[in-house]
Amino acid sequence: MPPASIRRIAICTGGGDAPGLNAVIRSVVIAAINRGWECYGIRDGFNGILFPERYLEGGVFRLTLDKVRDIGHLGGTMLGSTNKGNPLHFPTRMPDGTTHEIDRSGEILEYFAKKELDALVSIGGDGSLTIADALHKKGLRVVGVPKTIDNDLDKTMTTFGFDTAVAFATECLDRLHSTAESHQRVMVVEVMGRYAGWIALHSGIAGNAHAILMPEIPFDLDKVTNRIHARDAAGQLYSVVVVAEGAAPRDGHTELQAPAEIGHAERLGGIGERVAKALQERTGKDTRVVVLGHLLRGGSPTAFDRLAAMRFGAAAVRALDEGLSGVMVALAFPNVNYIALEEVAGRMKAVPMDSDTLQTARDLGICLGD
Ligand code: F6P
Repeated sequence: MPPASIRRIAICTGGGDAPGLNAVIRSVVIAAINRGWECYGIRDGFNGILFPERYLEGGVFRLTLDKVRDIGHLGGTMLGSTNKGNPLHFPTRMPDGTTHEIDRSGEILEYFAKKELDALVSIGGDGSLTIADALHKKGLRVVGVPKTIDNDLDKTMTTFGFDTAVAFATECLDRLHSTAESHQRVMVVEVMGRYAGWIALHSGIAGNAHAILMPEIPFDLDKVTNRIHARDAAGQLYSVVVVAEGAAPRDGHTELQAPAEIGHAERLGGIGERVAKALQERTGKDTRVVVLGHLLRGGSPTAFDRLAAMRFGAAAVRALDEGLSGVMVALAFPNVNYIALEEVAGRMKAVPMDSDTLQTARDLGICLGD
């Protein structure tokens, strides 16, 4: 039997925000309204359903054309987001003061049934798409849209948000070159990306870094030191080193800002500082560290990310219209296609060792710490 036709859909954004979220929302809303459907936005992941009392204007609200007018170029998400609200493992404080993970997905399914919402467009990274897959398996019609600045989602050529993060990091590297050169310093630039080195590698090459350290290649600081010495010997008295937050030395560990806790993944960060100190000791050169952090997540999406976001949003609506569920929209250049959510859930896409981009870095003489 063909799936019932759609009349009402809901949209949610989950996990860390990324430039392009508003462009997806706008695209979904316009494409849906053009089909005669109604659209609703859920606030802060699923919190709008789980904690309606927190929202004066309602945890779930109608998305009209007026609401999404001129938002495509804005950073952030008009719906709000959270990376602490997995409804399948919701951290809940018990009367005895302990915290446990509770499965609250039933409340979401009940809400959709009660409000006669026919389907969900879930925009998010690995965590959100894993939740989307679980909700689909529990009977909800769901289409996922891949988002993350980290570009670490499998089965899609890229996620929206990544291009903007790389463009901004590259601009920062350009700016740091001149001040590094003026002061004959080593500049260490830490970028986000969790356990994937995509942002470090792409911005490092585009921004003419002299060394790029990434999680996929455990690094040896002797190699970086040698590279800096070689540059000094050639009269190039400054160096720029990009370090991914998830990079770790061969004989060491990943630096954490905070360990994982119930309902929240560990927070990476601090490797830039460690690398800078070690390089200063080894080379005797004045060294500074810059942590780009959340700056990479803000701002207006690049034209590439806006277009990707709008194509993903429209394709998500087409998928629902065609009766699909349990799929993620993916970029398979030059087109978009649909991939089963279960093929994406829980998988991470690291930079492959045979990538030509990695080889490009080597061919350009960039030290990768190995
Ligand atoms: O996944 C996106 C991301 O920005 C990662 O690159 C980073 O490790 C993490 O989110 C930071 O999360 P938070 O906003 O919770 O500090």
